[in-house]
Amino acid sequence: MKNHTTNRREFLKVAAILGASLSLGASPLLAADSKKQIMPMRTLGKGDYAFEVSALAFGLMGLNYHRSKVLSEKEAAEIVAKCVDYGIILFDTAQVYGPDSNEILTGKILKPYKDKVFVTTKFGFGANADILDSSPKRIREVCEQSLKRLNIEQIPLFYQHRFDPQTPIEEVAGTVKDLIKEGKVARFGVCELSAATIEKAHKICPITAVQSEYHLMWRNVEIELFPTLEKLGIGFVAYSPLARGYLSGKLRKNSDFDPKNDNRATFPRYQDDTMAANYKIVELLREFGKGKNPSAQNGNATPAQMAISYLLAKKPYVVPLFGTTNLTHLSENIESLQVQWHKKELKNFEAELAKIQILGDRYPPEQAKRVGR
Ligand SMILES: NC(=O)c1ccc[n+]([C@@H]2O[C@H](COP(=O)([O-])OP(=O)(O)OC[C@H]3O[C@@H](n4cnc5c(N)ncnc54)[C@H](OP(=O)(O)O)[C@@H]3O)[C@@H](O)[C@H]2O)c1
Repeated sequence: MKNHTTNRREFLKVAAILGASLSLGASPLLAADSKKQIMPMRTLGKGDYAFEVSALAFGLMGLNYHRSKVLSEKEAAEIVAKCVDYGIILFDTAQVYGPDSNEILTGKILKPYKDKVFVTTKFGFGANADILDSSPKRIREVCEQSLKRLNIEQIPLFYQHRFDPQTPIEEVAGTVKDLIKEGKVARFGVCELSAATIEKAHKICPITAVQSEYHLMWRNVEIELFPTLEKLGIGFVAYSPLARGYLSGKLRKNSDFDPKNDNRATFPRYQDDTMAANYKIVELLREFGKGKNPSAQNGNATPAQMAISYLLAKKPYVVPLFGTTNLTHLSENIESLQVQWHKKELKNFEAELAKIQILGDRYPPEQAKRVGR
């Protein structure tokens, strides 16, 4: 495919060789000559549309949108430089983050690594970001603008962000198929669709990855989507693997969220009473994390490391997509790769998890109507 430059191919080859240790179950995942973490690789999708990526992906959204912070370009560049250093090659943004400003920042800070990394983006909203619009005209418009803002010649994976009731999914898939033929896009992805809609879209243009919310407080996808993904050979990118930070155990009060730049401020699950009531899950993670991180001074995995490593252990085609503005949190999340789960442990953990009732919906009613369509 057009986006595979020689540099990138070499980089991937080395990363894949290193990454093989995870699939063989080798532990710990440290390079022989140093304490450096080895980044394993995973494959999303299959055949001509397969996409080989780092097992962990980084979401750029929170660097300046919806997570209360707006980092300077220098601060944001430091975060992505460290991600690249850790071996992350899959980055994620969307036209609607900002809108536009997250793609603009992304284009600047990923420029030095253009030949080494992939940045995926999404269409699905109109020029007025409150309106859903996946009409062929708008998809093409976003594609052209995103290519410019991201400073790239081809979008490696272009997702539909939300289902558009005005545009049949077949028309959306057909438009992306044409963009692939034209070389502007390499692969097709969708977010938050039902299994039935995924099947319809996949018939028109093979889907490489579904990107939907998946973490220990929202596991519906395991039943609702995974069987279909396995049947069709589609990969899964798990957004908000830390339940927007909650599973780290470090979120405090709803008043810490900037209501102008943080969607958690209005989400039922992030109100003070629900955050307090759901804390049992963090305690469970802490308990099961005992003795599970060979690199930690006390030997224990943190709740964040347990939450991310669970997703990695669950299915080989799952790639957790986390975000952070903090270098210490970044290194903590990368160390999730150290945590190994045995089948029996996974079962015991899930049995305990099932005893905890999670309170608060994941989305407010208006946004809930836009998912699972
Ligand atoms: N397709 C979609 O519809 C959709 C929707 C939402 C998100 N996404 C994508 O998914 C990406 C990640 O989403 P997200 O930001 O919700 O993911 P997340 O990783 O679950 O949550 C990020 C939040 O958790 C905090 N955090 C991360 N690691 C931490 C740690 N070790 N300890 C304490 N706090 C920690 C971050 O704060 P600090 O900065 O303080 O670390 C940040 O506020 C986005 O950037 C975007 O690309 C896609």
